[in-house]
Amino acid sequence: MSGAAHSPEIEALAARLRDGELVAFPTETVYGLGADATSSDAVLKIYETKGRPRFNPLIVHVSDLEMAERLVELGPVARKLARFWPGPLTLVLPRRADAGLSDIVTAGLDTVGIRIPDHPLAQALIRATGRPLAAPSANRSGKLSPTTAEQVRRALGDAVPVLDGGAAQAGVESTILAFDGDSVTQLRAGALPRDEIEAAIGRPVPQAAQGARVTAPGMLLSHYAPNAALRLDADAPQPGETWLGFGPGSEGANLSPTSDLREAARNLFSMLHRLDETASRIAVAPIPRHGLGEAINDRLQRAAAPRD
Ligand code: TXA
Ligand code: MG
Repeated sequence: MSGAAHSPEIEALAARLRDGELVAFPTETVYGLGADATSSDAVLKIYETKGRPRFNPLIVHVSDLEMAERLVELGPVARKLARFWPGPLTLVLPRRADAGLSDIVTAGLDTVGIRIPDHPLAQALIRATGRPLAAPSANRSGKLSPTTAEQVRRALGDAVPVLDGGAAQAGVESTILAFDGDSVTQLRAGALPRDEIEAAIGRPVPQAAQGARVTAPGMLLSHYAPNAALRLDADAPQPGETWLGFGPGSEGANLSPTSDLREAARNLFSMLHRLDETASRIAVAPIPRHGLGEAINDRLQRAAAPRD
């Protein structure tokens, strides 16, 4: 076991979680705002703190497959996909009757969105707590997801302790899959590219139709929104616009000068956070749509969508 697993900080934060308090923690995708998923009182604090307008199902984080199997039924296809765990993949699976999860976590559904995060501190925290942790991204509702501890503190203030695990590796949220018998659909594009999932199970994984999705923050049209207005697929900045480039040969902020989609995903929310401090209008270069580009374009479209 690594030293981190037994650090006094982790033990103290785990005790807070067991007491029904919130703790923000790092994952490989974005920082999560965690609560004991077995306690409705604790989970309600997530909604209050985020200012989330309504109850939507939350992702439940576990430390290993054994813990997952105490909460959900894994069919044969899900079992194949579990090879991506720990990792940025959330599976929506039938909830076990004896799971002991708060109904608020699942928003009354008979399914649970579950994942094993690939971050040693997240795993150590879950183990030390001894409970599954419900955790949406640790931002105020509708705003950009945080990829550093500092961004969490700026968004949520001092009320919530933050376990600092450095900058998030992936930078966009997990890919979410739903099952219907043997067929698999993608509810949310994310850090695990769809083609890797299709290769693993040897069949196509269609994106769920907009209307078929659970209505939840990550799926609302306007979400992940900076304060600045965004113009996508731009050739060049117009007067008054701040540029966010991709690929070689452009000046200013650049998601990846070498056109590396992994690097672009990692930089996406951080650069939007930073530009948002000074810019009122941001023009974004076109990003390829293959691989991780699907998730990047999805987040950009939501960030650019008209708001009320
Ligand atoms: O990378 C991530 O997934 C991050 C980190 C913190 O793990 N978490 C995250 O959680 O993005 P959240 O709560 O923002 O995303 C929850 C999404 C919702 O949009 C919801 O639609 C879907 O997961 N979801 C969760 N449980 C579900 C269920 N039972 N059925 C359908 N969708 C579900
Ligand atoms: Mg979120």
